[in-house]
Amino acid sequence: MKNIAVLEGDGVSDEILSSAIKVLDKVSKVYNIDFKYTYLPIGGRAYELEGVPLPDYTIEGCLESDAVLLGAVGDWKYDKLDPSLRPERALLGIRKKLNLFANLRPAKIFNELLFSSPLKEEIVKDVDIMIVRELTGDVYFGEPRGITTKTIQGKEVRVGFNNMIYNELEIERIAHIAFQAAKKRNNKVCLVDKANVLDVSRLFREVTIEVSKNYPEVDLSFMYVDNCAMQLVSNPRQFDVILTGNIFGDILSDETSTICGSLGMLPSASLSDSKTPYMYEPIHGSAPDIAGKNIVNPIATILSAAMMLEYSFSETKAANSIYNAVQQALKEGYRTKDIYRENDKLVSTVEMTDVIVKAII
Ligand code: IPM
Ligand code: MG
Repeated sequence: MKNIAVLEGDGVSDEILSSAIKVLDKVSKVYNIDFKYTYLPIGGRAYELEGVPLPDYTIEGCLESDAVLLGAVGDWKYDKLDPSLRPERALLGIRKKLNLFANLRPAKIFNELLFSSPLKEEIVKDVDIMIVRELTGDVYFGEPRGITTKTIQGKEVRVGFNNMIYNELEIERIAHIAFQAAKKRNNKVCLVDKANVLDVSRLFREVTIEVSKNYPEVDLSFMYVDNCAMQLVSNPRQFDVILTGNIFGDILSDETSTICGSLGMLPSASLSDSKTPYMYEPIHGSAPDIAGKNIVNPIATILSAAMMLEYSFSETKAANSIYNAVQQALKEGYRTKDIYRENDKLVSTVEMTDVIVKAII
């Protein structure tokens, strides 16, 4: 029995989670794997229920599970809340509590959807990038941080600050994840940083080079983050695995996702040192503007469930059957609104899910 903690958040969360669970239920029948789901609130939903975005029982439920599946959190209506109560804080909190230091964000374009990329088809065809983003360090968590006042030119002024900081242990463990990922792919890691300016990046490079000695078969290259942002839109096929820190990974992974056509297509996995369960979520947000309309694209969450089968449960065959089912649905022309083009078969969230469920064999 695999115990899955299902974190119900905001916006389209319910719709995409029920799609992913329908798919898992089918996988359960076809591949004889038993799943038990424990539903727990997070984000704005938890705030409404409990007054906090990440209740203790949600954390405990996750810690007791074998894997965590998260919908999405956030709603504009919480914009005025104290930062400590905002839904996004729950996301950072659960990443830290579960020690999810490695965020894998695959950006693989489905060639059926080349037209929906803002880039030319010949540039994006066959793009297949894995961003390995460090997730529990960097300016996101670095201390000291805050807003204070300082006297400058005889005047008291406000000063905001965060600390971009990594220690070598944090760099080592994320570098290992990147090299291991590359070994299963095309044996290339590109470390993206700002080593021409930042000391923390210089250390990141030093340590990554040391770690690379364990992986002689993997080719390691380096790129400054500003250049990478540009290369991703001019020649994205050059990349295999991109290894990078938390903030650069946040920014670049939004860029790679849009290159692939729709935010609604891309999954993610967040891994720990295995002492705590891994977490899976679509890379898109909660999209409150389209919530409850049965139009959200469920594929990112369905593919996140596939990553769960692969990374948490080593059920590669079952995972592949989901990837293939998604591909087949696209081949047959089924499209939710975000990826629809004239003459395609426009379907709702539920219909898309049913087509994919049917294609799982
Ligand atoms: C992401 C998101 C989060 C992040 C926000 C919502 C805190 O942008 O997962 O990429 O910055 O990590
Ligand atoms: Mg982001």
